[in-house]
Amino acid sequence: MTIGVGVANGKIILMGEHSVVYGKPAIALPFSKASIRCSVDFHESENSIRCIYYEGLLVDAPSVLDGVKVLVESTLKHLDKPEQGINLNIESDLPPQRGLGSSAAVSVAVVRSLFDAFKVPLSEEDLSNLVNIAEAVHHVNPSGLDASTIASGKVVYYQHGSEKRFIPMHLNGVIVVADTGKHGQTKQAVSEVRDLWIKNPDDINPILDRLGELTLEASEYLSTNNLIGLGKTMTEAHGLLRKINVSDDTLEQLVSVAIANGALGAKLTGGGKGGCMIALCSSTKEAEKMATHLRNAGATNTWFYDLQEIISDE
Ligand code: PMV
Repeated sequence: MTIGVGVANGKIILMGEHSVVYGKPAIALPFSKASIRCSVDFHESENSIRCIYYEGLLVDAPSVLDGVKVLVESTLKHLDKPEQGINLNIESDLPPQRGLGSSAAVSVAVVRSLFDAFKVPLSEEDLSNLVNIAEAVHHVNPSGLDASTIASGKVVYYQHGSEKRFIPMHLNGVIVVADTGKHGQTKQAVSEVRDLWIKNPDDINPILDRLGELTLEASEYLSTNNLIGLGKTMTEAHGLLRKINVSDDTLEQLVSVAIANGALGAKLTGGGKGGCMIALCSSTKEAEKMATHLRNAGATNTWFYDLQEIISDE
């Protein structure tokens, strides 16, 4: 019998992926078009899990679930219930490893379901802290951006170690998200950018600085409804991300098709090297056409959402 449930949406990074790891600001939006649901029941034996990757005892789960293992242990310890026999059932329509935050969303859903099972209120701070424990297993050096955005469900302006705030969103635009169908390689991309940075700081630092400036500009454009300005910052950011080698052929193809077909801006989103890209359009009608162009160009899935639907924090 289900005794606890937790649900979480994904996220998209609008601006600032990779540079956020180097202390620059980033902006992420909740992605409400797909979600993850975790339900919990108790049983007599050891902790177990059912999800797309695996069904069985948690202790024997494959390495892709290492973060979840650590998370369950830490959350039960936090709740002072370390010895429970719990069974987690995770269902998702958020594709994994596509830069849409599925790993953080699984973690948020798992923590919410466990707190719900033990009827303990969950603060946003405890949620973020617990989720970051799992994120540290998945990523080399997680910035915390995914965890903050998914835990809050709001538009987040984030700077590691110095600032996290929810920002107003007054944009009359529609974002199309397109999936290359190829797993993103966040961990590898983050570690390759680090190698590049260590080897060529004089080349890489100005790129990271400019990505930071573009995020600041984008934040201004979000609050002043400057779609054209935002589109330009997105496309420039994509060019810089390409320079630090986190794009790939599939992303380049979709970004160029988006621009050729009138997107106001387009870029990869998330860790890159596969995963998803985003294109900015001025209306739902334009976004529908754009989604068709992107699917014709090889996108395996597309979603679009009106930015007006996002909860804005004033
Ligand atoms: O691929 P995602 O959605 O997990 O995004 C990674 C974003 C990076 O900036 C590349 C890494 C990070 O920890 O912020």
